[in-house]
Amino acid sequence: MLQALRRRYWDYRARGWQRRMRTRRRKRYVAERADWLAEHAPSGAVLDLGCGTGSYAKALVRRGFEVTGVDFSDAMLKRARTEVPSARAAFVAADINDRLPFPGATFDAVLSVLSFDHVADARAVLREVRRVLKPGGVLLVVTLSRARRNRERRMAGAVERVRRTVMQQVARSLVSTYSRDEFLRIASAAGFSLVDERATDKTLLQVVLRAGG
Ligand SMILES: C[S@@+](CC[C@H](N)C(=O)[O-])C[C@H]1O[C@@H](n2cnc3c(N)ncnc32)[C@H](O)[C@@H]1O
Repeated sequence: MLQALRRRYWDYRARGWQRRMRTRRRKRYVAERADWLAEHAPSGAVLDLGCGTGSYAKALVRRGFEVTGVDFSDAMLKRARTEVPSARAAFVAADINDRLPFPGATFDAVLSVLSFDHVADARAVLREVRRVLKPGGVLLVVTLSRARRNRERRMAGAVERVRRTVMQQVARSLVSTYSRDEFLRIASAAGFSLVDERATDKTLLQVVLRAGG
């Protein structure tokens, strides 16, 4: 029930999200992350977890990858399919909290940009990611750090909380944030090791992890 409402929230945000991702600043950001992934996984099949309107899939297809985007919002997927009309891109409806609909050792790399903040159990999702990754495959994660949540809490006083729509309240009822060490500990337990890390500001964790063989 709650998850259905969350999905509807993202359906509702799809149009605005696509517009946001088309700005020059976002395009530059997407290109930088796609290049970063390519540094660690030069070619092959990439799974984009929580692919949204397909901005990352588009950038990765341009760099020669085969991309499968997964999202639970039909509205996001519909836009992704028109945004990336390539035979090398496929978009699949699935909830990333559940078992991923792919056989083991399917992908050379997995990308997750702002989707780990929407999972209930990061450990379980990381185990699933490890299962679908080939041994030695890489996972690039950009997710919200705990500092972000603290900042948002400070900024969102009582008035703001009342002003937010019910839909937003529901969607935000599942926002997971992680401290760097906590995330790396969970990832290590799921069989990943840290291979690279970037810091732009304190509010995002940006790491590349490698799946053990
Ligand atoms: C903040 S957006 C990021 C989209 C994309 N990664 C990007 O950076 O443009 C979060 C995306 O995750 C999707 N999402 C949230 N929870 C999900 C879940 N449980 N399963 C699958 N997709 C989910 C939303 O529909 C949305 O497209």
